[in-house]
Amino acid sequence: MFANSRTVSSRQTGPHADLAGVVRRHLEHPFQKPLLDYNRAAAEAALAAWRQWNPAAPLILDSGCGVGWSTVQLARQWPDAFVLGVDQSSDRLGRGKDALGEFPANMALIRADLVDFWRLLGEAGVRLRRHYLLYPNPWPKIGHLQRRWHGHPVFPALLALGGVLECRSNWAIYVQELAQALELATGRQAGPQPWEPEGRYLTPFERKYKESGQTLWRLELDLGEGA
Ligand SMILES: C[S@@+](CC[C@H](N)C(=O)[O-])C[C@H]1O[C@@H](n2cnc3c(N)ncnc32)[C@H](O)[C@@H]1O
Repeated sequence: MFANSRTVSSRQTGPHADLAGVVRRHLEHPFQKPLLDYNRAAAEAALAAWRQWNPAAPLILDSGCGVGWSTVQLARQWPDAFVLGVDQSSDRLGRGKDALGEFPANMALIRADLVDFWRLLGEAGVRLRRHYLLYPNPWPKIGHLQRRWHGHPVFPALLALGGVLECRSNWAIYVQELAQALELATGRQAGPQPWEPEGRYLTPFERKYKESGQTLWRLELDLGEGA
């Protein structure tokens, strides 16, 4: 079931020609989309869970956590931090937990749209220790640049949260574009590297892509205190 995933197919052969212009525009113009009440409630619940566990603990965000495998593993890997796994799909959040054992106390899974959730964390003054974007939807059609996180108007809100940003993808162009967008915004380089999970899969997509023989890519950049 896992080992038959096809590589990303796209007419793009390299980073999108419009990338720099799109990122600059988003950096210069604040994103105005109104925040939805359900995301406000989700952000409040997430912050309450963190504060209840330990308000002094650093916060790690697992954005687009899917079924939450990575959230559980990250919470075990960083026992002094609180880990929030956020996904918009209640279906994904509700399944695939059997193999994970008991959940660590230093984590919560939250259903929310990251387009609002990142801005709400920023408004609350939150700064992250680490931020994971694990196998985000690639949106490989040329016309879908602005659906990829680095091409989306919410990108500055992601930057503002700070922390060590780590992205993994099975589409080299995705991490190359993200690296270019990060360099434009911060002046610092984050050279994407091939990624070898070496048998310890952080997410189901990582396992599926790797066991299908695909090359995985990883990028890491310290965004510091954000902006
Ligand atoms: C390709 S899946 C990867 C899931 C998981 N990280 C993994 O590697 O197994 C991308 C995930 O991002 C979530 N997602 C996409 N856009 C989102 C958004 N705007 N807000 C919250 N989650 C989103 C999807 O629901 C999906 O679970």
